[in-house]
Amino acid sequence: RCLLNLRYIKINMDNKIKSIGVLTSGGDSPGMNAAIRAVVRTCAYHGLQCQGIFRGFQGLMEGDFKEMGARSVNNIINKGGTMLKSARSEEFKTVEGRKKAFEHLQNANIDALVVIGGDGSFKGARELHKEFKIPIIAIPGTIDNDIFGTTHTLGYDTALNTVVEVIDKIRDTASSHNRLFFIEVMGRDCGHIALNAGIGAGAEEILIPEENLGVDRLLESLRRSKESGKSSSIVVISEGGKIGKTVFELKDYVEENLSEYEVRVSVLGHMQRGGAPSCFDRVLASRFGVKAVESLMDGKSNFMVGLRNDAIELVPLEKAIKGSTQVDMELLRVSDIMSI
Ligand code: F6P
Repeated sequence: RCLLNLRYIKINMDNKIKSIGVLTSGGDSPGMNAAIRAVVRTCAYHGLQCQGIFRGFQGLMEGDFKEMGARSVNNIINKGGTMLKSARSEEFKTVEGRKKAFEHLQNANIDALVVIGGDGSFKGARELHKEFKIPIIAIPGTIDNDIFGTTHTLGYDTALNTVVEVIDKIRDTASSHNRLFFIEVMGRDCGHIALNAGIGAGAEEILIPEENLGVDRLLESLRRSKESGKSSSIVVISEGGKIGKTVFELKDYVEENLSEYEVRVSVLGHMQRGGAPSCFDRVLASRFGVKAVESLMDGKSNFMVGLRNDAIELVPLEKAIKGSTQVDMELLRVSDIMSI
């Protein structure tokens, strides 16, 4: 530990980062490749070495590294997923696992890390930084948009567009057959995707974890919808919704209580995580990558890059981990008005 700390002091005394490692961890999201590209090319621009670390923290513990230059990230800005692959690692949650990871970093002469992922990945990065003082900057990448300190995470905008596009198609069937559709979207603990895609796709009702609408209010709302002359309806439900029923149980319950409705369920699932990133996500990834590398060069560590008021800012990693995001509840009111 003592020796490791000496290395830390050396890094900070001459403040020279010569080689940066980049990895993606946790659930993939569109824009991760664009962020890898941005990190690699910013390193190349500044004459730094860059090593791609495969399979997230698991690959870090196994020394699964590959040197990357500006040309090794050709033609990936438009690709979903992550060329570096991603993994969830139990072993990295142990000190022994992280020690292994640090030894591989030392052997490969990697001075600093850029970690692209969600808050689980940030916790791993925080521990590595705490124990071994390796400089780290995190880039928020998850479709859920549930990271404090940034108005947008990488992949969120793309996922919204994917969900809206799919609901538009489902609407064709809903209106042709006078049906009610329950559409479950991702968002383990938060309703950003459901709320925004729901408004964008013109949903009649939106169920999010932040608000317990209750089944009876849902029935009431569907009844009103029918009375107002609507022949079909779309209800968007966040997977983390607190209504106390699965989307399939909800279908049965509504059909039992509102016999005039024929209900179909669509669980959108992982299609929301794939596909080419939107222009917004590509630009955001490029800005995040440049800021991450240049912050490390500047001697900064233990921060996340975030977007606020269209500027890229550094947010203390601890704050990003501990803080929670809020959905804009005014959007629920907007949705209510729109679905009159
Ligand atoms: O990436 C976040 C997320 O999409 C959540 O909304 C969802 O609950 C989870 O990933 C599912 O991921 P996996 O199937 O990879 O465990």
